[in-house]
Amino acid sequence: MLTLIGLGLWNEEDIVLRGFRKARNADTVYIEFYTSKWHGNIKKLERMIGKEIKILNREDLEEKSSEFLEEAKDKKVVLFVPGDPLVATTHSSLLTDAKKRGIKTEIIHNASIYSAIAETGLHIYRFGVTITIPFPEKTSDQLPLSTYERIRVNKKRDLHTLLLLDVISEKERYMEPNEGMQVLLNAEEKMGKDVFTEDTEIVVFSRAGSENPLIIFGKVKDLINKGFGEPPFVIILPARLHFSESEYLEFFRVK
Ligand SMILES: C[S@@+](CC[C@H](N)C(=O)[O-])C[C@H]1O[C@@H](n2cnc3c(N)ncnc32)[C@H](O)[C@@H]1O
Repeated sequence: MLTLIGLGLWNEEDIVLRGFRKARNADTVYIEFYTSKWHGNIKKLERMIGKEIKILNREDLEEKSSEFLEEAKDKKVVLFVPGDPLVATTHSSLLTDAKKRGIKTEIIHNASIYSAIAETGLHIYRFGVTITIPFPEKTSDQLPLSTYERIRVNKKRDLHTLLLLDVISEKERYMEPNEGMQVLLNAEEKMGKDVFTEDTEIVVFSRAGSENPLIIFGKVKDLINKGFGEPPFVIILPARLHFSESEYLEFFRVK
């Protein structure tokens, strides 16, 4: 049995009770941090479930997933994942591979950045395709042109765009909103379709689910030189604002 358990948005206090119970009864417990930043304490979590937790990296779960899945054939294997376990394409593929091998699977959902974004006042049903902004060094282009195009299409369809920021977990590197803005400005300079300029109004949302979340709304030129504190962050590119969205966002306008 393979059980994927969501860690929720911040630390070990966010795990649902059913998740704790499953982890306590498991034969082996794994955790991954390569899809997002988790602010919990692994030693504390180990004490809470009374078990050692092994950390898996991207390679373990993507290229070497067969080793991990073999174990789940006749043992109770738990994998803790930041946020909701299925808001990350890697884990959906893991489920497909498990099903192909006849392994039983179970999901224990949790809060995700996908729903937390409604804290900004933007209507959750108005979001279009989600985009991840990759670190420039990972791609030959600053921002793949297809990505710029998908943002343009969301905008044209009057949909908000959630922009997730890249993570290189081995280096503890989390893309800063400023870096994300610069990548988008560079793409704009190349493409010139008025998708993301210095006058575009955006929302930066940091540390959702923590005791000190940060929401800032304003023009790119007023935000690009700001510091946003601890990661993780997202940028949201709003569509035309509904009056109720606008009324709420004004509370967060950059000073
Ligand atoms: C691949 S997504 C995975 C999300 C996770 N599985 C979930 O359900 O929330 C990771 C990205 O989401 C954003 N993110 C995740 N947690 C966040 C938080 N608490 N506050 C702000 N942004 C967050 C960051 O941009 C991060 O790089």
